Amino acid sequence: MLSGLACMTLRLLVLGATGKTGTHILDLALARGHQVTAFVRSPQKIVRRHPALSIVQGDPMQVNALAQALPGHHAVLSALGPSGREAFQPNSLLAECAASTVAAMERASVTRLAMVSAALLFPGGGLRFALFRRLIRHHLRDLVAAEAVIRATPFDWTLARPPRLVEAPEETYRSEREALPTGAWSMSFRAVGAFLLDCIEQGAHTREVVGLARR
Ligand SMILES: NC(=O)c1ccc[n+]([C@@H]2O[C@H](COP(=O)([O-])OP(=O)(O)OC[C@H]3O[C@@H](n4cnc5c(N)ncnc54)[C@H](OP(=O)(O)O)[C@@H]3O)[C@@H](O)[C@H]2O)c1
Repeated sequence: MLSGLACMTLRLLVLGATGKTGTHILDLALARGHQVTAFVRSPQKIVRRHPALSIVQGDPMQVNALAQALPGHHAVLSALGPSGREAFQPNSLLAECAASTVAAMERASVTRLAMVSAALLFPGGGLRFALFRRLIRHHLRDLVAAEAVIRATPFDWTLARPPRLVEAPEETYRSEREALPTGAWSMSFRAVGAFLLDCIEQGAHTREVVGLARR
């Protein structure tokens, strides 16, 4: 288990690094002095350059490609998600990527994984949550399957379940183990990135599902 790594430079591999959450993970990880590998299908989307940033083109569903990129990394952070249209259709992107990621991690002897899931998987949340659950039911089914793949591993995983995400500069959050925090309705993409990095750096929330909310 990785613990007490707050002062250490970590080598982190980020999946979904071109997305809205992923972009903030990259930005924060580099600002905190870590070495970051963005494993992406569309490298041209990452325009920033930084001496501690490596961009590797690859398909996160391909075990071999991931396993080649992974050795030497301390952890994988995943913020993969379906494109807008795909979220409304039957889809297995996240379950397939979870399976390829854990297979590649086994091969590369990397054992720390933090992934963005969704607060809609918690019960409760009232009518608004119920409506969204219905609207993106296919995506949620895929997330449940992806979480199951990860939970079944012996790894030190963390599954972060944020509510609706918005672009805002704040990096603070409230977190609650295995539960939807009260008043969780929206928070920033950046705060989710901060939470994932805090977990990895502090060895916190290993083998836990964590509900997030705006502070
Ligand atoms: N957005 C929200 O309000 C919200 C709320 C709660 C939870 N979440 C969860 O957070 C996660 C990330 O959300 P986000 O809004 O940051 O996502 P996003 O901006 O749509 O980014 C998705 C990322 O996944 C990659 N991707 C999509 N399909 C792919 C494929 N077939 N092969 C390889 N890469 C693929 C995209 O790469 P390309 O750039 O190459 O397309 C991109 O890097 C989602 O799983 C979602 O469930 C989101």
